[in-house]
Amino acid sequence: MAQADLDQRAESLLDRGLPGRWYVVAKSGEVPNGAVRAVKALGRDLVVWRGADGKARCIEDRCPHRGARISLGQVSDSDLACRYHGVTLDGEGRIVRVPAIGNCGLEGRKTNDAYAVTEAADGIFVRRRFDRHPARTHLRPSAGLQIWPRGSRTWLMTHHT
Ligand code: FES
Repeated sequence: MAQADLDQRAESLLDRGLPGRWYVVAKSGEVPNGAVRAVKALGRDLVVWRGADGKARCIEDRCPHRGARISLGQVSDSDLACRYHGVTLDGEGRIVRVPAIGNCGLEGRKTNDAYAVTEAADGIFVRRRFDRHPARTHLRPSAGLQIWPRGSRTWLMTHHT
């Protein structure tokens, strides 16, 4: 296989995310309580938000109603409500509210992929929740940790101890 093909394959794997690994998507301080942020990570458009409880959550950035970017919406308690018609999802990617229809049968249905979220050293890290691999990266806050955006990816540099 040619070097260019190998490079492209490695880039593709990095874009999708390696199983069991955590990927930084934002600085914790960039997503305060009640904030919503669209991010591109693991080869997808994702949305990260922080609920009133202070916990960060991450799901794919798509409204199950008409496919709008749900990152344009707003935080409602610990959930995320779409700006257009108010369909509201929780951090598990489940519909919790359809305001236009009382007792809507879609409530409780999982429509969006959800990502495991953890925070360390002022960074918000996500991991594919649907992979079968346990997390292998131990996140230890490090004085040498730096996070910065570069192109469509956010990069993390840290000193291993
Ligand atoms: S497009 Fe999101 S609720 Fe209608």
